[in-house]
Amino acid sequence: MNPFKSLRIADENGKTTARVVEVALAELSPGEVVFQTAYSSVNYKDALAATGIGKIIRNFPRIGGIDATGTVISSADARFKAGDEVICTSYEFGVGHDGGFSQVCRVPADWVVPLPKGLTLFDAAALGVAGYTAGLAVELLELNGMAPNNGKALVNGATGGVATLVIDMLAALGYHVVALTGKDAEHGYLQQLGAKEVLSRQKLEMGTRPLEKGLWAAAFDSVGGEQLAWLTRTMQQDGLIASFGNAGGIEFKTTVLPFILRGVRLIGIDSGATPMPLRRKVWGRLASDLKPRHIGDIAHIINLEDLPAYFERMLKGQIRGRAVVKLS
Ligand SMILES: NC(=O)c1ccc[n+]([C@@H]2O[C@H](COP(=O)([O-])OP(=O)(O)OC[C@H]3O[C@@H](n4cnc5c(N)ncnc54)[C@H](OP(=O)(O)O)[C@@H]3O)[C@@H](O)[C@H]2O)c1
Repeated sequence: MNPFKSLRIADENGKTTARVVEVALAELSPGEVVFQTAYSSVNYKDALAATGIGKIIRNFPRIGGIDATGTVISSADARFKAGDEVICTSYEFGVGHDGGFSQVCRVPADWVVPLPKGLTLFDAAALGVAGYTAGLAVELLELNGMAPNNGKALVNGATGGVATLVIDMLAALGYHVVALTGKDAEHGYLQQLGAKEVLSRQKLEMGTRPLEKGLWAAAFDSVGGEQLAWLTRTMQQDGLIASFGNAGGIEFKTTVLPFILRGVRLIGIDSGATPMPLRRKVWGRLASDLKPRHIGDIAHIINLEDLPAYFERMLKGQIRGRAVVKLS
């Protein structure tokens, strides 16, 4: 196989760098399945990893990218054969094992999900870890009793990759979605995706009482920090919060009162470690009842060379939706 292009993240005298380089197959981390990458996508974690702002990469150099879709070239595992269309996300992909910002990927067969019917390789990459996280959050909150008639569902960090997909999914399921964003110029876009109401973070009255008026039956939080604390204080009786993000900080301070006086449940979402049966179930839903109706509006294509600049904008909260990286 000829050398191919990859985005390699390195540590150069204590500084993290990310450059497009030519790589040979033998240089990739080992695995049973080799696939020709069609698309990858950009997640917040990729931006943290490639800039060194987050200590994500376990050892350098490492090809980044925590998700990819493509077509199998060869497989030493009987579950996959040449020509199969596949998805690879999570586990050590792009962290402790070379990842998806590469025209060819080599991965353990245990990490590979067959592309479900109903999704193209582009759709699956547009969803990627973000879509999977959104779907997992919806699935886990439903298991805890979330239903459209319970009340409003708040989505925080609304213009982000995971959040836009949550909005699209919940709106299609019949929820009254309230989007909370820091970007006043994007209110129309969020309504187009299905938000019934859009709140501006700059105008938010957060209050200081341990329990404020109960407003939300469900909440999906990309942001963490004091925003998550505010959510705990403004949930209705038996409200459900999916906490999956830290774009605004990792620490938050609240009291036990929302939990012991309102039965609020704070549900952690970890897309990286889901067991394969649940992972396949969620991907099946992403291809059917949770399939976002606005993938074409949410996703836009970029190239491998565009990635470093895109990471910078992402970390400043300046992007909207999902960037899909075209690799072949
Ligand atoms: N738990 C998991 O398994 C899992 C999986 C995927 C992602 N995540 C996490 O989920 C979060 C969202 O990921 P993503 O890929 O959707 O990222 P993203 O596209 O960059 O979205 C993050 C959004 O958060 C909002 N935000 C609020 N305060 C911010 C701040 N101080 N800096 C930057 N953004 C801020 C912005 O939206 P508005 O301006 O509209 O508020 C921004 O668009 C990240 O923390 C990521 O690490 C977790």
